[in-house]
Amino acid sequence: MASGEIAVLFVCLGNICRSPTAHGVFEKRVAELGLEQQIRIDSAGTGDWHLGKQPDPRTILAAQRGGYDLRHLRARQVTALDFDLFDYILAMDGKNLANLRAMQPRHFDGTLGLFLPFGQGSLDEVPDPYAGGEEGFQQVLEMVERATDGLLTHLRAELLNAAGAS
Ligand code: 4NP
Repeated sequence: MASGEIAVLFVCLGNICRSPTAHGVFEKRVAELGLEQQIRIDSAGTGDWHLGKQPDPRTILAAQRGGYDLRHLRARQVTALDFDLFDYILAMDGKNLANLRAMQPRHFDGTLGLFLPFGQGSLDEVPDPYAGGEEGFQQVLEMVERATDGLLTHLRAELLNAAGAS
């Protein structure tokens, strides 16, 4: 953690559906809590098909219905440098997590894991909605909202511990 700041990277495959949803939901909650100076957020994909693109229109629409604006986000691919820049690298599913583990440098001492378990529901993975119908995008949003609250509780405790220790 760089001097009282925690950096969080959400990762999916294309960086146009699941991870931008997590990015936008988390960004809004962090702003509501006034934690923008303490928590830095980004998202990326393990794949490179959609570099520079806005989130999928179905992702933008589902998020908009929930009160989140994702239109400023642009897709990018994860790089090895991300392991130096982020404390938490959170994957949307096990396949992306496996790809990230294969890239992980030895010196990385942050947290690399799945995002959804922070929501403490019964599922571990956010399903890929890309090839399915609109309801899948709504489902992604709801799963992400639940996990965001859990992750924020976890990170706020970490920030308090770090402040107490310094
Ligand atoms: P995401 O969804 O990983 O949640 O952004 C996908 C987007 C695009 C593709 C696959 C999944 N694709 O194959 O292009």
